[in-house]
Amino acid sequence: MQIRDKLGNSTKRILVVEDEWIIAMNLKEMLESLGYEVISLVHTGEEAVRVSEAEHPNIVLMDILLRGKMDGIEAADYLYSILDVPVVYITSFTDERTLERAKESEPFGYILKPFEKRELHIVIEMALYKHEMDKRLKEKTKQLEELNRNLETRVKEEIEKGRKKDRMIIQQSKLMAMGEMMVAIAHQWRQPLNVIGLLVQDLEDAYNFGEVDKQYIKDMTVESMAQLAFMSKTISDFTNFFKPVNEKVLFDVKVAIEEVITLVHTRLESSQIILDCEFKRSTADYIGSDYTTSLLQDASHGQIIVKGYPDAFKQVILIIINNARDSILRKRQDELFSSNRKGLIRIILQEQAGYVVIRVRDNGVGIAEDICDRIFEPYFTTKDSGIGIGLYMSKIIIENHMSGKLYTENADDGAIFCIELNI
Ligand SMILES: Nc1ncnc2c1ncn2[C@@H]1O[C@H](COP(=O)(O)OP(=O)(O)OP(=O)(O)O)[C@@H](O)[C@H]1O
Ligand SMILES: [Mg+2]
Repeated sequence: MQIRDKLGNSTKRILVVEDEWIIAMNLKEMLESLGYEVISLVHTGEEAVRVSEAEHPNIVLMDILLRGKMDGIEAADYLYSILDVPVVYITSFTDERTLERAKESEPFGYILKPFEKRELHIVIEMALYKHEMDKRLKEKTKQLEELNRNLETRVKEEIEKGRKKDRMIIQQSKLMAMGEMMVAIAHQWRQPLNVIGLLVQDLEDAYNFGEVDKQYIKDMTVESMAQLAFMSKTISDFTNFFKPVNEKVLFDVKVAIEEVITLVHTRLESSQIILDCEFKRSTADYIGSDYTTSLLQDASHGQIIVKGYPDAFKQVILIIINNARDSILRKRQDELFSSNRKGLIRIILQEQAGYVVIRVRDNGVGIAEDICDRIFEPYFTTKDSGIGIGLYMSKIIIENHMSGKLYTENADDGAIFCIELNI
């Protein structure tokens, strides 16, 4: 049991290992007069180990030279390394080799015989203090290691979460692209389906009026086949659009943009929005310049090859075009357009040294300055039916997956979205 002094400090319990009886008794007296409790006086290293295992003293005062198989150094080594009991050597023996061995057993102090009470007191207190500090240091190191391990696991978990989110976004972008394709096909099919419906209705009438002859059947077949051919062509036009790619590939951004334009231009036309595209090799001012060369008619047919995910890239272009369309429709709805102004979405590709900039400019409502910083945040939307994921997804695709940049630029009228990709 530990006894506490008046200040609440526990009395330190000391084991003395000394084979000279008189010295041992003398030491015991000195220690007790200094306020320590001497739990035992033993003569051999083996005894020191046995008592320490049973009693766990705060400190052991150990003579280096002991009778028996185990000398003081061996015993001290065991006491500190196995039982974490600090040892102070008390010796008159000072030959170099023994001192060297003693040092290796990491003692907490030496005291040379003969010594004074004051000296003994200081050495014991220093040793106890050092041991306490050592213990705290070990504890802190353990905590730090634990923290490090936890941190490592947390970092790994967060990275994995991020990867999962990225995969989900790519997956979502594929689903959106498929949805977009269905809408485009449905739009293209409406007209031929109507025509085929009318032809079938007319067949019944013609039969009732006795008008079905060989020529009639021939005309009807030709017309139906033409409509079906158109429908079938729509499918092949759009299947190119959506070919999921899981690995980065080299692709031509011009071709990818052309495919997006094919997908959306009729729908935009029906909303009275003109979509055009311009390709510039120079750094000349592009804003406000009259549009002259369609990308589709670009005589040079120069390719702009980038590395990445073409379907995800096309999805980004679609997201930006759809936002531009929403913005133009909003402007029209708010009657902010002068009566004869058309909605306009212009895509400008500009090849620079080592990279390409794709700017998508619209003449819609524009982006208010106070939300400029927020539009790329997930779930930020100003639309009643918006989710607010489009631009967030686009930024991840362009910046995380294709090492590019996506940002907005100021425009006097409407908004400009820029994509930069390395070529
Ligand atoms: N061309 C643009 N002109 C004006 N504002 C725009 C334009 N593009 C985006 N914004 C603003 O950025 C916001 C976020 O766009 P984002 O595409 O991320 O989401 P959303 O279009 O609102 O919803 P959804 O997830 O359904 O696409 C929009 O709500 C709109 O306020
Ligand atoms: Mg959107």
